[in-house]
Amino acid sequence: MRVVTTVADLRKAINQAREEGKKIGFVPTMGALHNGHIQLVKRCVAENEFAVVSVFVNPTQFNDKNDLLKYPRTLEADCKLLEEAGCNLVFAPTVDEVYPEEDTRLFDFGQLDKVMEGEFRPGHFNGVAQVVSKLFDMVTPDNAYFGEKDFQQLAIIRQMVKQLNSPVEIHPCPIVREESGLAMSSRNTRLTPEQLAEAPKIYQTLLASKAMKETKSVSEVKAWVINELNKNEFFRVEYFDIVDGLTLQSLNNWSESGYAVGCIAVFCGEVRLIDNIIYG
Ligand code: PAF
Repeated sequence: MRVVTTVADLRKAINQAREEGKKIGFVPTMGALHNGHIQLVKRCVAENEFAVVSVFVNPTQFNDKNDLLKYPRTLEADCKLLEEAGCNLVFAPTVDEVYPEEDTRLFDFGQLDKVMEGEFRPGHFNGVAQVVSKLFDMVTPDNAYFGEKDFQQLAIIRQMVKQLNSPVEIHPCPIVREESGLAMSSRNTRLTPEQLAEAPKIYQTLLASKAMKETKSVSEVKAWVINELNKNEFFRVEYFDIVDGLTLQSLNNWSESGYAVGCIAVFCGEVRLIDNIIYG
């Protein structure tokens, strides 16, 4: 496995792989890798002859500068995990390499980025689209892999690919959970042992709400989830919404969509966790 930090070296390695007739797979990450990322990488390795992973903490997607500063940076440990997973090339650029000039592009995703994460993290998805479109241009992958934990991000990336006529095929990958049910996240390392013991209740509550679908209305299920979590002193729900999985717009009735998804952001102490559940 090679590690490159410049676009020039990245392009050379990609060109060589292309000359050898290899299909290029890509997993963009911000590092601090956990088993959730590694599952994406393993799938990428299995489905492509040349697997590229980027490790880049993208400043333009952080609306909270403190969050950017606190974001864990663990390149050495990440590379060890990536090598074990069979990755061929790691791209770990500096901020100046990715943004030699300020990126002033503004994407228009219609209503997709106005809700949920988009409402509470203004500018976040524009920053994600800026960096992912740049990385796609640099890596020129055939296939790219994204986790379903960031459900809204996946919808935005799909829309971006459509808007830009990008030839990259986007592959969603299921959420990877701890045995406790807690969705794997780089942020979990910031939870105290007490918080870590409570955090699985987020998924347990979502699962319990799924069982209510037959007997309760959308608004009753929403209210129940929010109340159930907020009555626990460890949690503060930022939002919980039940939306159509394609448009991401709120549902009023279960019959409005055959693809209802519950998306949640919850503060567990200082740590903001997201998760989702597909009601079907
Ligand atoms: O999901 C992430 O880790 C990031 O948003 C991504 C896609 C790597 C862009 O920085």
